[in-house]
Amino acid sequence: MNQRKILVTSALPYANGDIHLGHIMEVTQTDIWVRLQKLRGHDCVYVCADDAHGTSIMLSAEAQGITPEELINKVKRQHEQDFKEFLIGFDNFHTTHSEENKSFSEEIYLALKANQHIAKRTILQLYDPEKQLFLADRYVIGTCPNCKSNGQYGDNCEVCGSTYSPSELINPKSAISGAVPTEKESEHFFFKLPAFNEMLKTWTRSGTLQDSVANKINEWLEEGLQEWDISRDAPYFGFEIPGHSDKYFYVWLDAPIGYMASFKNYCSKTTYKFEEYWEKNSETELYHFIGKDIINFHTLFWPAMLTSANYRTPTAVFVHGFLTVDGTKMSKSRGTFINARTYLENLNPEYLRYYLAAKLSSGIDDLDLNLEDFVQRVNSDLVGKVINIASRCAGFINKGFNGELSSKIDTPELLMEIQSKKDEITSHYENREYGKAVRIIMALADKANHYINDKEPWVIGKKDKASPELQEICSIGINAFRLLIIYLKPVLPETAKKVEIFLKIQPLIWEDIDSLLLGHSIGKFTPLITRVESEKVQNIIAVTKEIFKPKDKLEHKKKMNNLEEFEPQIEFDDFKKIDLRVARIILAERVEGADKLLQLTLDLGFDSAGNALSRKVFSGIKSAYDPDGLKDKLTVVVVNLKPRKMKFGVSEGMILAAGPGGKDIWLIEPHNGATPGMRIT
Ligand code: MSP
Ligand code: ZN
Repeated sequence: MNQRKILVTSALPYANGDIHLGHIMEVTQTDIWVRLQKLRGHDCVYVCADDAHGTSIMLSAEAQGITPEELINKVKRQHEQDFKEFLIGFDNFHTTHSEENKSFSEEIYLALKANQHIAKRTILQLYDPEKQLFLADRYVIGTCPNCKSNGQYGDNCEVCGSTYSPSELINPKSAISGAVPTEKESEHFFFKLPAFNEMLKTWTRSGTLQDSVANKINEWLEEGLQEWDISRDAPYFGFEIPGHSDKYFYVWLDAPIGYMASFKNYCSKTTYKFEEYWEKNSETELYHFIGKDIINFHTLFWPAMLTSANYRTPTAVFVHGFLTVDGTKMSKSRGTFINARTYLENLNPEYLRYYLAAKLSSGIDDLDLNLEDFVQRVNSDLVGKVINIASRCAGFINKGFNGELSSKIDTPELLMEIQSKKDEITSHYENREYGKAVRIIMALADKANHYINDKEPWVIGKKDKASPELQEICSIGINAFRLLIIYLKPVLPETAKKVEIFLKIQPLIWEDIDSLLLGHSIGKFTPLITRVESEKVQNIIAVTKEIFKPKDKLEHKKKMNNLEEFEPQIEFDDFKKIDLRVARIILAERVEGADKLLQLTLDLGFDSAGNALSRKVFSGIKSAYDPDGLKDKLTVVVVNLKPRKMKFGVSEGMILAAGPGGKDIWLIEPHNGATPGMRIT
């Protein structure tokens, strides 16, 4: 056999969040492929890492009161544990915050620079004056300039879909501090991507990408590429750019380099040679499995960087779609944004591996985890079809033949048919058409069950439990089962292991499909996989809802409004005590010596005797309102507040306003038509 040398990666998950089923779909797709190659005897190495840099990791750590290093170490342990329990067979799982990655990032950057592929330019960016950091688009929130929806992010509106720059937002706020952003200049470094337009046109059309991906990229290439901003200003969690002490590599510069770094780290523990896999004319294969949201990084920036720095480019980039649950985007409130941990606490990981495999294809369409279908399919296919074959045959072999399989089988048509599908199944796996492979495997399982139905071993067994015919039928059944388990081994490594113990055999490999198990003594059958209980699925949803429920929303509100919790709660009777009235501002005057206060004279209608009622209150709205503009405005006042003696006089009530402060305070204004003195209920 011609042994291939293959290096495979999955995208590096961010180190500030939990692993969820979307990530699991990606690593499962990759893991199945890698396991297939290993079973076939190829030399296949699978590396990954946590993506540990960037502003959000810095902010998460700060919010948790720990250092970024502490955060990423903690998260890495959790990620590794989750992946391990999902049976993801990484050969190495590293972090981008590593010595290897720092050294490669610097080396590659310096190569780009030496090749005149780095430009320098001053850009104007929104800046949070309170936090003293530059604000990426997603850290600016405001009102959409197009449809006027509130609470939209700095790059596009989730309501009307229009795109804009953050400075176009109405009333922009920093999502971090709530402060009004200012604009500030800073010098940035750019990677001159346009220099690679022609190279990329060729590369993306050379069999490296799925057609649909290549077509999409081609649109971008036709439009012409922009230079790519690869630097970020301090404070930032990442690697400093050599020669510039307060500038850092943008996280997406060093993230893909993390693939190299993880492999380099693996080489230091093994006999693998880094150069053999990464040098310009390497004859090894390199594949990246990624989601469709990060195509540009992997098919434009990354191959261009590698080319400039004189490294090899990937053999192919395999793009997959997104995991949806019950037909829609995973949702925290619906309880379908399921963490790997929540799943693992309830269900066997192989159920999900099987379900994903049964639905995965080489395309970039989304894959739906339909929870009802999931339960039904796992139960009927895995338990009802595959495992059932062994459970129907093993008992007879154990009882009548002391565990011994027939030493020869005369007409193994069923088995020959199963064996004959080897190439087809192999090539479906190789081409990431797992769904097609699984369909063939299940059709073969159906045939095996039909065979057993036809032969009715239980009828023969009743008459003569040691009949040679019975031994042969059941040996055929067990052999069919063994072959199907080899086919499923990339998907169900744990079950395969249990089967190897049950059959008392060496670890199965792909070649074993060509042979049969004859004259061999097997062990006792124990249920290898149990049925999915749908209550467990319901529990996953309930737990997920709980995890993401009120806390998150409140935190978001806190961020935006500086709200503490909505606590302490008050009784309705307490609320009833507050007498709120409509008031008209008759007069607004500056207060000598006070920076923030205006004194307002309010018209409150008439008392029961018909006398005009008025009040004088102080209000801290000077920074937001010009006194002259306030005259005749309607507002709301708490009239039964005990008069308060203040430095500048007595305040006989309090008017209502909202806003974070500074220029951003808005008087509460009742609709026109309300008249002074009206009670607010
Ligand atoms: N850190 C970057 C990748 C850097 S690679 C040099 C990143 N991280 S991520 O955690 O957001 O996503 C990691 C991978 O998971 C990506 O390939 C992404 O497409 C994939 N998925 C995230 N959510 C997903 C689904 N709902 N479904 C399928 N894959 C999803 O991007
Ligand atoms: Zn809008």
